[in-house]
Amino acid sequence: MGSMDGLASVVVTTAAHGFEQLARLDDLLENIPVSVTRSNGEKVCLVRTQGEVAAVSNLCTHQEFDMALGDAPGDGTIECAWHGARFDIRTGEVLQGPATDPLPVYEVIVQDGAVLVGPRRRE
Ligand code: FES
Repeated sequence: MGSMDGLASVVVTTAAHGFEQLARLDDLLENIPVSVTRSNGEKVCLVRTQGEVAAVSNLCTHQEFDMALGDAPGDGTIECAWHGARFDIRTGEVLQGPATDPLPVYEVIVQDGAVLVGPRRRE
C-alpha cells in the first residue's frame, strides 16, 4: 500500500513539472539520435548512451540544422551533420565550432520504460 502511494505521488510530481512522455526506452537504440516533438511544438533530440538518455534541442545553435541527423559516437557528445559543431549532450556545452552558443538541454526521467522529457535546463 505504502509503495503504491509513493508511485502515485511521483507521477503527480513529474506531471506538475511539465514532464511528458516522448518515447519508450526500448524505442531508442544506443547512440542513434532521434527527433521527437514536445506538445508545445519544440523539437527535441533524444540520445541514449550507455543506458542513459539525454535530451537536447534538435536545432543546432549554428544554423538550426536537425541535430538528430548528426552523429553521437557514444562518448557523451553529438556532432552536427552540417558544419561539424560538437556539443556535450548532458550540458549542451560547445566542444567544437562553428557554433558558439550552447545547445539547450532538457531534464529527462526514465520511469517504467517511459522516457519523460521536462523543462529546459537553461534558456
Ligand atoms: S548548422 Fe550545425 S554546425 Fe552549422
